[in-house]
Amino acid sequence: MKHEWSSRLTFILAAVGSAVGLGNVWKFPYITGEYGGGFFIFAYLFCVALIGLPIMLTEIALGRRGKHSPVNTLAELSLEAGASPRWNLLGWSGMIAGCLILSYYSVIAGEVMAYTFRAASGMFTQQTADGIKGIFNTLTSDAEKLLAWHTLFIVLTVVAVARGVKGGIEKTVTFLMPALFIVLLVLVGYAMNSGGFSQALDFMFTPDMDKFFYARNDAGAYLVDANGEKIFTWKALMVAMGHAFFTLSLGMGAIMMYGSYLNRHVSIGKMAMIIVSLDTLVALLAGLAIFPLVFVNNLDPASGPGLIFETLPLAFASMPGGAFIGTLFFALLFFAALSSAISLIEPTVAFLIESKKMRRIKATAWTGFVIWLTGLATIFSMTGLTLKDIGEALLGAIGLDEIELNSALFQYNPFQVIDFFTASIMLPLGGMLIAIFAGWIMDRESTQREFSFSNRFIYPVWYFMVRYISPVLVLMVFLNIIGIFSFD
Ligand code: TRP
Repeated sequence: MKHEWSSRLTFILAAVGSAVGLGNVWKFPYITGEYGGGFFIFAYLFCVALIGLPIMLTEIALGRRGKHSPVNTLAELSLEAGASPRWNLLGWSGMIAGCLILSYYSVIAGEVMAYTFRAASGMFTQQTADGIKGIFNTLTSDAEKLLAWHTLFIVLTVVAVARGVKGGIEKTVTFLMPALFIVLLVLVGYAMNSGGFSQALDFMFTPDMDKFFYARNDAGAYLVDANGEKIFTWKALMVAMGHAFFTLSLGMGAIMMYGSYLNRHVSIGKMAMIIVSLDTLVALLAGLAIFPLVFVNNLDPASGPGLIFETLPLAFASMPGGAFIGTLFFALLFFAALSSAISLIEPTVAFLIESKKMRRIKATAWTGFVIWLTGLATIFSMTGLTLKDIGEALLGAIGLDEIELNSALFQYNPFQVIDFFTASIMLPLGGMLIAIFAGWIMDRESTQREFSFSNRFIYPVWYFMVRYISPVLVLMVFLNIIGIFSFD
């Protein structure tokens, strides 16, 4: 039986649910903080408009045309275009990326759940900075606790997805998304009256090119070369682009999957605009909810991934009604994470149902189990495991214990590797290839048909973008990372 969304609205809720997630509320504010605010937001909006929006349209269009999970959709569409059916490898790498992302996403979402309870029980109230740090360290150094929350989050995701597109996914997002928006507006309202609002606006919208373009160390000081000159870098642009893919759920087939459940008579132009706008709105609102509290308490906006777990609770500790606002905040983050997790697992589940003739419950349970297991790598990263430990253990196993792994690369942990590899490599690469497939491989007639309910200007603009602009931009940023090509 082929599913279809009950209405356009449920498609929007599901797609916005996918897009709005930890990326908007946890990641966006902290990377914005790290790269100096204003100019980073500008670069991010630029990537969203020139890369994100066209690829969002592409994924919806291709999914709806293929009507299957990404692997089979791409196989079918390449057959139709007379191209190699191997384009479906893109679907495979998408499934792998989705599972890898969910494996760490779930661990962080588990921490969010733990924090919801901690906030509700008043644990942050009146705490000092050390106290808050202590709470964070106690949680993240305890592998068993992390595992318990990670397990709970995976189970919730599996239950929602196993109940099917209408009975599970639609029902869940129909509750979660409105709740999320209401809570977010309450939080922004609170932040507006907190006294730090104008400072937050200033931070978010005043461009600081230096912090964007020059390399800095972990403590935030500029690095200099032998001549005492600051060192130029495109890293921030790369992070902005990676984030545009991540926050819009692009590049791995999640939106393609949701597009496959979409009715033929819907304007995909309108849908893509709504999804992209709402996702961006939520990210900006999240910044406006968080940064005022950070500034009014004289905390550091550039505190990195700990912004939500260490900096913000400190703000909650001393605010009037902090326990309540804190609980709302983490509940919101949990809602956002759950509806995203659903979309990360669905392409694999749908593929197993289609191609392996599995029942949905079994397909979801198996996929969930593999992801849960992979999540252990992130849990042990939190508790201190590095690549060096793994490498030395492997070397030791083959009797080479005397080799020392001292390269800086080995100081990273598996979580950082998975995060970088998926968000900065697999998603942009996947998105670029999807754009190339739609712009250069498929027939014009087949893509054009998907735009027949959209404004007639959208198709030519989209076509030009996916052929010449989006893939080229992604490629330029890529070549730059590997150092083959340099802008300056
Ligand atoms: N977009 C979500 C976020 O911002 C995460 C997410 C859900 C995602 N589905 C995805 C990321 C697919 C990449 C690909 O948190």
